[in-house]
Amino acid sequence: MALLLWLYIALFSTLCLADDPYVFYDFKVSYITTSPLGVPQQVIAINGAFPGPVLNATTNYNVVVNVHNQLNENLLMTWSGIQLRRNSWQDGVRGTNCPIHPKMNFTYQFQVKDKIGSFFYFPSLNFQRASGGFGPIVINNWKIIAIPFPEPNDDIAVLIGDWYTNNHTALRTVLDSGEELGLPDGVLIKGKGPYRYNKTLIPDGIEYETIN
Ligand SMILES: *[C@@H]1O[C@H](CO)[C@@H](O)[C@H](O)[C@H]1NC(C)=O
Ligand SMILES: *[C@@H]1O[C@H](CO)[C@@H](O)[C@H](O)[C@H]1NC(C)=O
Ligand SMILES: *[C@@H]1O[C@H](CO)[C@@H](O)[C@H](O)[C@H]1NC(C)=O
Ligand SMILES: *[C@@H]1O[C@H](CO)[C@@H](O)[C@H](O)[C@H]1NC(C)=O
Repeated sequence: MALLLWLYIALFSTLCLADDPYVFYDFKVSYITTSPLGVPQQVIAINGAFPGPVLNATTNYNVVVNVHNQLNENLLMTWSGIQLRRNSWQDGVRGTNCPIHPKMNFTYQFQVKDKIGSFFYFPSLNFQRASGGFGPIVINNWKIIAIPFPEPNDDIAVLIGDWYTNNHTALRTVLDSGEELGLPDGVLIKGKGPYRYNKTLIPDGIEYETIN
């Protein structure tokens, strides 16, 4: 009986993996020049976008992300807060993953499980996330497991965080010397600074976004 049950579970879980849908993403990680706080700076973009694209999946989905490192330094991408089934070592943390060398690709593959909600990915090495390279992750509920609240009409990912106009290398040098970083130069919302937060510094006509 126990053996039968074990066989059943083994067979069932194999079939499960084969049947569960796949989503594929291609992440080209490179520098772009942009001026979120009015000062031009090199920012880490995914497929030319800062922040990067939404990684959108549903419970049980198999997620395949080909990360192509176009930076001139090592890279590791961390999938923060989500459950990685079957390949939990691909969490993108130094020690469990080898770094992706410049100009090299690495394909992450994992299955997302029942921890639904909004999360984010970011580059975990060398303080790079202070220069960008991050983006939202949305894990939706499996339709046959209802959520205990009405289905939202829409899902808009909004990333908000401190921002410095100095890059991650410069900021690391400050920290390594034992100094503090001091107050950030501003706060970015979806990669954009406050609209004309300084009318002397920031000319009219800069990019902004309205969310309804
Ligand atoms: C995420 O994917 C689901 C289907 O799996 C789709 O209904 C939803 O609109 C997508 N959301 C985003 C933000 O792309
Ligand atoms: C690396 O990824 C890029 C797309 O990001 C692709 O064009 C290229 O063929 C990949 N290289 C290898 C060796 O897989
Ligand atoms: C980071 O900033 C330093 C100066 O503070 C500069 O020398 C370096 O080239 C910058 N790195 C990148 C990748 O922009
Ligand atoms: C705007 O920037 C200018 C130039 O850096 C500075 O002199 C001024 O104090 C700033 N104004 C505000 C309101 O921060």
